[in-house]
Amino acid sequence: MAKIINEVSRTFTEYLIIPGLTTVDCTPDKVDMITPLVRFKKGESSKINLKTPFVSAIMQSVSDDGMAIALAKEGGVSFIYGSQSIEQQADMVRRVKKHKAGFVESRANITPEQTLEDVLNLKESTGFSTIGVTEDGSPNGKFLGIITGRDYRISKDSLSKKVKDIMRPLPELAVGELGISLTEANDIIWEHKLNTLPVIDKDQNLKYFVFRKDYDNHKENHNELLDDHKRLVVGAGINTRDYEERVPALVDAGVDTVCIDSSDGFSEWQKITIQWIKEHYKGKVSVGAGNVVDKAGFLYLAEAGADFIKVGVGGGSICITREQKGIGRGQATAIIEVAAARDEYFEKTGEYIPICSDGGIVQDYHMTLALSMGADFLMMGRYFARFDESPTRKLLIGSNYVKEYWGEGSNRARNWQRYDMGGNNSLKFEEGVDSYVPYAGKLKDNLEITTGKIKSTMCSCGVLTIAQLQAEAKITLVSSTSIVEGGAHDVIVKDTKN
Ligand code: IMP
Repeated sequence: MAKIINEVSRTFTEYLIIPGLTTVDCTPDKVDMITPLVRFKKGESSKINLKTPFVSAIMQSVSDDGMAIALAKEGGVSFIYGSQSIEQQADMVRRVKKHKAGFVESRANITPEQTLEDVLNLKESTGFSTIGVTEDGSPNGKFLGIITGRDYRISKDSLSKKVKDIMRPLPELAVGELGISLTEANDIIWEHKLNTLPVIDKDQNLKYFVFRKDYDNHKENHNELLDDHKRLVVGAGINTRDYEERVPALVDAGVDTVCIDSSDGFSEWQKITIQWIKEHYKGKVSVGAGNVVDKAGFLYLAEAGADFIKVGVGGGSICITREQKGIGRGQATAIIEVAAARDEYFEKTGEYIPICSDGGIVQDYHMTLALSMGADFLMMGRYFARFDESPTRKLLIGSNYVKEYWGEGSNRARNWQRYDMGGNNSLKFEEGVDSYVPYAGKLKDNLEITTGKIKSTMCSCGVLTIAQLQAEAKITLVSSTSIVEGGAHDVIVKDTKN
């Protein structure tokens, strides 16, 4: 007979945290959110520690090099999506590793033959107001000029004007030569009263922009996550099919950690993949695995050698796996069980394997709950998809700005490997949807608010570290009536938009 578990599996909204004693020394500015990313032995420390306990999801609509740079600057890590060619993925990794603080690759580019209307559309869809004009419209093409809001006036007649007739062309611009330092670039910016300095190579190809506003930002970035060579840390998603080609290319590009991306990770395919990586790249790259939702799945991947294990099946915002296949588990219950298994494994073997709560975070307080329940860090898709730095289009729908966000198992992403059960089965069905999420602005600004809330809750619990939160938090189940009580209720909320 099948094993029936009668305990209900639960999700984050069904729990709350009970405050502990807050001492006078326990203030948000003293909270340290450092947390291990990869396996370590008792008495040692993890080779990679996050300064902010967040990683961005292995998804086309979330994690490209732009997101990876922005997140690593704030102390987290992106896992660049694997549902693209090996070369393209390795190029993205390379761009993150080559990123020099303050030097930004141009993300909105156009050719001289396009029109002002195209400029406006590009500005709308990318959110960037400084547009690079290159011969072929690519970010590193031959640099011809620049367009910003001060170069055009919008009227009915001007929309069809050619870019070449409105741009500020290269001969009139101050530029920096590739190899210039940030301080030198900044000196030119001040000397010429510029907002943006294009940096070009000796063949006149556009390499970077240096923005005046970024200089001050950079000076503030004490959370930046850097490797031993002072380059930003970056991860990448892999699958259990082409890892023998993909992993070498990613390692060559400088990736710090890879993660097998699968909706159901309790499989021999994952064990074979982990073991191949350990055999060929031991000490060179760490490998995460998943996703699992119980002790058995965790132990299987732990013993296979996984450096971190992702938890979560069916809870993602764009996920329809539970509807399609009937597999999954409430995310809170899954984390609680796997965290207990991790602690037991640590006791027994002296090896600590960090666990990642993947998917289903809706409110900021869910993050604190997931950490208190034992997650070491959180993977999020929807949260990051809303920001300027995600790779998708920003659109105006009705009177609201939104960003596109689609699942890896949707027809749009066509990442069938993530859902592959092996063999020659070519049956493909969707496990994800294509959607919009409300646009929320810059990653940095949002992260500040979110981490501010987590730190504040940690102080309410009387703790200053994630390890203490995991050990000391008191969590309670709540009834559905208490959930209603948790929001504003029995009042007429004022419409603050008017
Ligand atoms: P979110 O943070 O709730 O949006 O969930 C993101 C997570 O959903 C990802 O990290 C994946 O684990 C998972 N995911 C991504 N694409 C799909 C899909 O198409 N179907 C099911 N799950 C998905």
